[in-house]
Amino acid sequence: MHRSPDGYRGRVSNSVDASGPWLDAARAAGLVDAAGAVRPNIFAEMSAIAVRTGAVNLGQGFPDYAGPQDVLDAAAAAVLAGRNQYPPGRGVPELVDAIAEHHRRFYGLEVDPATEVCVTAGATEALAAIILGLVRPGDEVVCFEPYYDAYAADIARAGGVQVNVPLRWRASGAGGPAGFGLDHADLRAAVTDRTRMIIVNTPHNPTGMVFDVATLSLVASLAAQHDAILVADEVYEHLTFGVPHRPVATFPGAADRTLLIGSGGKTFSVTGWKIGWVTGPAPLVDAVFGMKQWLSYVNGAPLQPAIAAGLALPDRVYDAIAADLRDRRDLLCGALTEVGFAVAEPDAGYFVIADAAPLGVADGEAFCRALPERCGVVAIPVSSFCSPGRQDVRSLVRFAYCKNDATLAEAVRRLRTLT
Ligand SMILES: Cc1ncc(COP(=O)(O)O)c(C=O)c1O
Repeated sequence: MHRSPDGYRGRVSNSVDASGPWLDAARAAGLVDAAGAVRPNIFAEMSAIAVRTGAVNLGQGFPDYAGPQDVLDAAAAAVLAGRNQYPPGRGVPELVDAIAEHHRRFYGLEVDPATEVCVTAGATEALAAIILGLVRPGDEVVCFEPYYDAYAADIARAGGVQVNVPLRWRASGAGGPAGFGLDHADLRAAVTDRTRMIIVNTPHNPTGMVFDVATLSLVASLAAQHDAILVADEVYEHLTFGVPHRPVATFPGAADRTLLIGSGGKTFSVTGWKIGWVTGPAPLVDAVFGMKQWLSYVNGAPLQPAIAAGLALPDRVYDAIAADLRDRRDLLCGALTEVGFAVAEPDAGYFVIADAAPLGVADGEAFCRALPERCGVVAIPVSSFCSPGRQDVRSLVRFAYCKNDATLAEAVRRLRTLT
């Protein structure tokens, strides 16, 4: 029998050893326990609990309502028109053109559709291609913590070293409402000549923060000073609530070192389509495509023209999507506050973070595991977005509000039974 070199104890087989580098990624994402067993990620685990218990799933961030009709119609038309074979590697012409036009229209950024755009299988593949393609073993990658879980997995797989800048929790009463804050000294200390890459996720998941101008300009200047690549994960760019989003690529000196990531799935409420993109200077985009071709190679042929149609929609459609989401945020934040959580009202995105400490909760993970049985709602502990040992987030939980009226109303009704 082949013996696993790293103590992996998954499905036991007498003939095959299934351990390998994927375990490094799982370990980095906190999915391997002390005995070497791998568990599903928290979203899969909590979604399974939701199905088993009939709980309302406010765990995973997918809207359960339809995206713009024009976008859906364009996808159906493309399928029926036979656009079902491998598309060009960097994306179909109308989508790469639409992405370039989108950047010009919303941000005044000029990108060459022929050389500075690469369409990917969601922002997830964009991140994988960027990190696997540009990080060598030992390179440091700076992330803001809490962080989207794929960063840790990709960095580990590339052999990189993740360096976290904490977004620290500030309980309500301590000089203002509850929320997260960033100490610029922490950021300055994290970025050094060992830094290969800084991943800036604004608007930020899970906190809902839109990074302010002072922070973004510091990020841009530190990247220039230490010759680091900036990875701007801006998948929630259009889902802001009255707070302007400014891409880090628009800051002085940033454009020629920034890979900007967008997600058609997030912007148009079609997360299952997995149409994302990367834009940036041609040599960096070449590197991303150089890696993407060995991952999905190409993706989403008929969905690409549909996202192109979405990107061309007038401002009022974008505004309506954000306004609608804002109403959902207000409804859920109001209910959580009423029940006794200390709520950090998000400025953007799909999620709200609530502190369960005022309800007598010390351990958010145990609270989330018990919540489906206790009141029929699923949430995600914020500790799942952090490295082990972050104490200030232990009682925090994340709820998704990108849910339809009936789902949200039922969730609110159930949450009220907590009082
Ligand atoms: C911050 C962040 N980046 C990237 C992604 C992945 O986006 P996509 O669904 O386009 O792969 C997500 C999805 O939740 C996210 O929250």
